[in-house]
Amino acid sequence: MNADTGKLYIIMVGLPAMGKSTVASKLKENFLGEGVAVEIFNNGDLRRAMLKENTSRPDFYDPDNQEGASKREHIALINIGRAKDYLASHGQVAILDATNVSRKRRRTIEAILKDHPLLFIECVNDDPEMLSASITRKTKLSEFAHLSPAEAYKSFERRISYYKHIHAPLGEEENYFVLDSLNNRILRERVCGRMPYFVKVRDLLVSDWVKNLFLLRHGETFYNLENRIGGDSKLTDRGMAQAKALARHFRTLHLPYVFTSTKRRTLETARPIANMQDRCEIITLPEFDEIDAGQCDGMRYEDIRENMPEVARARAADKYNYVYPAGEGYATLKERVDRGIKKALYLSGNSDNIIIVGHQAVNRMILSHFLYRRTEDVPYIYIPQDRYFHIISTQNKKLFELRRY
Ligand code: F6P
Repeated sequence: MNADTGKLYIIMVGLPAMGKSTVASKLKENFLGEGVAVEIFNNGDLRRAMLKENTSRPDFYDPDNQEGASKREHIALINIGRAKDYLASHGQVAILDATNVSRKRRRTIEAILKDHPLLFIECVNDDPEMLSASITRKTKLSEFAHLSPAEAYKSFERRISYYKHIHAPLGEEENYFVLDSLNNRILRERVCGRMPYFVKVRDLLVSDWVKNLFLLRHGETFYNLENRIGGDSKLTDRGMAQAKALARHFRTLHLPYVFTSTKRRTLETARPIANMQDRCEIITLPEFDEIDAGQCDGMRYEDIRENMPEVARARAADKYNYVYPAGEGYATLKERVDRGIKKALYLSGNSDNIIIVGHQAVNRMILSHFLYRRTEDVPYIYIPQDRYFHIISTQNKKLFELRRY
């Protein structure tokens, strides 16, 4: 039998807010795209659907709380049973999406699901900033609506701490991946014996997954009119009109997040877009700030040519590697922009659409993250203000389209 026609259970593992559900949906979509019958069995969704009480309170997750523990166990067993039934009928891949952090739970899963291979995937994320942002995102679930944002945050932190008590990292299981879910990096792995879809799953875990990224440059600014670089200029009337036109253009799409830099011009472009949506959060990331021109900040290109000809010459000779005095260059920008992309993709979770409102140099770096360009060509990628890039980058599809709005 071909290894990729078998049946497989995928068991997600990890503390809350580690990116498990995002990974699970990425796997599901990819399998679906290839015609593989796949289903996710999510314990959190089942808990919310089955239990009338509000189970967001942290003590529900206290391992010493017998009642909470037995209700959670009951829900886990239902989903394990459903996964088994699914594979016993037409299903090919069943994904159990739950914390599954205790060995005891995993032994139960192994004891019940003996009919097909099991692959455990543990999601790990040690980045405190990302963890904090993920918790904040979780606290926006309706089950926390009765709490203030600060109370909800604390409550979720306590929930995590209860899971930490019973958490045993993967190690004894036969087949597993431990994944750094922010950096798409496999930290540990073990596969014994036949494992259907192994190469596909492994490759998917380490690849970027962008369903619809709309990469916009901010609207026209007063600095743009004067050909000045850097600064924190506001949008002109034309820039504001561009922002409003973008807002109308994206009105019919569901956009839960718009990412910007910390600069006024990106925020002023993002606000009308967010305002035209039902619920849309603007997330500012300093990683998307424009290239820092250091001593040249605020100057016009012609001023630099006249007053600092050595800068203009050196930059023209090797624009990618040139670093502005006391500032940055494209090469030194790469690390922070890549980090911004990872943050934005991680924070946007399963969303179908995300927008990044960036700047000329930053958008060149973002594009080149997804679209191969020789480094010497990156600083010359065309980034107009009256168009945007639509980017799709999944295993099955690549698209880079410059579109008018
Ligand atoms: O001119 C707008 C701007 O975003 C500047 O702030 C920035 O220094 C420049 O573009 C980056 O483009 P280039 O590398 O071509 O100078």
